[in-house]
Amino acid sequence: MRRIGVLTSGGDGPGLNPCIRAVTRTAVGYGLEVIGIERGYAGLIDGEMIPLDARAVGGIVGKGGTILGTARAPEFETVKGQREALRNLNKHSIEGLVVIGGNGSLTGALALHRHGFPVVGVPATIDNDVPGTSMAIGVDTALNTILGAIDRIKDTASSHQRAFLVEVMGRDCGYLALMGGVAGGAEMVLIPEVETTLEEVAQGLLDAYIRGKSHCIVVVAEGYKPGTRAVVDYLNEHKEELGFEVRVTVLGHIQRGGSPSAFDRLLATQLGAAAVTELYNGHYGLMVGIRGHEIVTVSLEEMADSQVELDLDLYELARVMEK
Ligand code: F6P
Repeated sequence: MRRIGVLTSGGDGPGLNPCIRAVTRTAVGYGLEVIGIERGYAGLIDGEMIPLDARAVGGIVGKGGTILGTARAPEFETVKGQREALRNLNKHSIEGLVVIGGNGSLTGALALHRHGFPVVGVPATIDNDVPGTSMAIGVDTALNTILGAIDRIKDTASSHQRAFLVEVMGRDCGYLALMGGVAGGAEMVLIPEVETTLEEVAQGLLDAYIRGKSHCIVVVAEGYKPGTRAVVDYLNEHKEELGFEVRVTVLGHIQRGGSPSAFDRLLATQLGAAAVTELYNGHYGLMVGIRGHEIVTVSLEEMADSQVELDLDLYELARVMEK
């Protein structure tokens, strides 16, 4: 193998840049050439390539976003899109590829693997919903952003004796909401994995008020059903029966930006380097990840066939801490 490609794909998150840096510098260390593919699979289909070397990835270890850009690329889900991608890889003499991204992007990597192309994936998504790794790149920084927001919201909530619904990202996974709720000292956590009725939410607010709390913070995962809007409407309809007035903050894409935390920089550096080492040693069709303190590999097939299971013991812990 003489030349490899690297791309970032799907929703961005903090830590993509240190990962691109680690991929590039590790590859250079093995004597490989590196091509950065811009805008993920969309750029791969359109042939948007730039050469990377050790200097090109200087000064980015602490930068949010991705110097390569990223995109959601539905065209890559088609055989035609995949064929164009393979054609461009061939045209640019790229013999191996590192794909940095979440579930969808790694499933795309699996498609390339099934076409016989050497590929290794690196899990990067703030949602932490990639099977086979206990943490994805970007999760820790997003959690810290959430905690900063909850701390600030608590200040104003206490001053006004209000309840706040704080909606966090995570797609269909409640990880960010649950961890944010436990670490942020929330009074309630609403996640897709645990059914909570609107009546129970209202009762939770009332209980917190009766216990003498000066605020009530409810962290709501964006994937929680029936959704933040339905909760707000219900609480507003019953406002005479609740102790607290209700306000809502949707944190949104703020969670995706910012300088990566120490943990994310380290994880991105370790996983980026491990991905290149696997490629260099001829181990393909894999994703690298972390379990405990150990860097591990898992086949992309296994990743795609598995589901992430949230640690619901932490949900029980959150309930104890609500008091
Ligand atoms: O997968 C990351 C994520 O931020 C999810 O938490 C969220 O549901 C989605 O992406 C938002 O996507 P977009 O930036 O395309 O609106």
